[in-house]
Amino acid sequence: MTKIRKMALVLSALLFLLTNCKETKSTESAQEPTKVPTSLKSSFAKSFYLGAAINESQIMETDAKGIAVINREFNTLTPENNMKWMYLQPTPNSFDFTFADKYVALGEKMDMFVVGHTLVWHSQLPNFMHSVKDSAAMATHIKNHIHTVMGRYKGRIHAWDVVNEALNEDGSLRQSLFQQVLGDDYIEYAFQLASQADPEAKLIYNDYNLWKPEKRAGVVRLVKRLQEKGIQVDGVGMQAHWSLEGPSLEDIENSIIAYSELGVKVQFTELDVTALPNPWEVEGAEVSQNYEEYEGDLSMDPYRTGLPDSVQTKLANRYQEIFELFLKHQDKIDRVTFWGVNDGGSWLNGWPIKGRTNHPLLFDRNFAPKKAYTQVLALKKKDKLSFHQTTKK
Ligand code: G3I
Repeated sequence: MTKIRKMALVLSALLFLLTNCKETKSTESAQEPTKVPTSLKSSFAKSFYLGAAINESQIMETDAKGIAVINREFNTLTPENNMKWMYLQPTPNSFDFTFADKYVALGEKMDMFVVGHTLVWHSQLPNFMHSVKDSAAMATHIKNHIHTVMGRYKGRIHAWDVVNEALNEDGSLRQSLFQQVLGDDYIEYAFQLASQADPEAKLIYNDYNLWKPEKRAGVVRLVKRLQEKGIQVDGVGMQAHWSLEGPSLEDIENSIIAYSELGVKVQFTELDVTALPNPWEVEGAEVSQNYEEYEGDLSMDPYRTGLPDSVQTKLANRYQEIFELFLKHQDKIDRVTFWGVNDGGSWLNGWPIKGRTNHPLLFDRNFAPKKAYTQVLALKKKDKLSFHQTTKK
């Protein structure tokens, strides 16, 4: 065989390989960049805090890969579950601070902006609270809970989700246990108690679907009511459980502006972007919604072996446009927190349909940064470039 023929054969084999590789689905980690030039926290340091909700094995530092990512990338933490009422006070007046103490100590060790989640929420309550029907008894329980928990971490937890998910989708007040027993004023009561317990902490109203115009109007009413009564409220937490298709940037932007016009800061407290098909009416994060009839339905769980490149790109572009909007309004935004560290740990693998494989975060199941991570970081590089260009002029 002549040299030229040999070279031609090698070239056509290479061409064949290249063409066919394009057709195959790439695994998530195979397509990741090998070098991470910088981190989210350092890149966005001048814009807002960037963080993640962490789970029990991260709090206990048994998840070494998770801990490495948290340490490298984030400067704020939220406990995903371990500070909810049912875990902190499972029976009346009997508190268990094992994980909460560990969580706060970890935050301090890592020099984080430490968030407390959450004080007054109708979900994940201990059983005993469901049998409290007397308003004076309910008020005492709320006072005891807020003062004990916030008092313990006074000066060490920097922001609290004081009241969580108190609104219906139309902006009216949810008929929660607290609302039924104490009336609408329970929200003011909770914020007053929180303000007494730690006046330095930032006090947040936190909810999902806060981009919706009707719900936005409900938040505006709620915050104004607190302000008119001189009660401390420092921020609105937009949970941000979103999808590839929605909500629209315009709706999100209108909410950022409306909340900021109240004189409070906006936080994106639970950001994730589902990559999976959802039962059509599901939006937001109503934890009681569960679709058992779809469990095991593979058409609702199409990316069990990894995201195809086309969807990976969609996810990256969606995150890019979301962060472009955040940067545009960085003067109004204090913090952006992802709801989980990596895809494997996301609650969206179990909601609204159990047992699926979702890919909603910036780090894949091996904790490798995804294309979305690279595109989000690239925004800051562009930002710096345009900053230098404008300052040179
Ligand atoms: O701790 C038990 C464990 O002992 C048991 O073996 C296991 C069996 O299912 O359940 C474990 O509890 C689960 C808990 O997460 C801890 O993993 C609960 O079943 C499960 O319902 C619970 O889900 C959490 C959900 O809140 C509950 O309301 C999610 O992890 C958590 O991400 C989610 O977070 C909420 C925010 O607090 C508020 N905003 C919406 C957001 C998403 O729903």
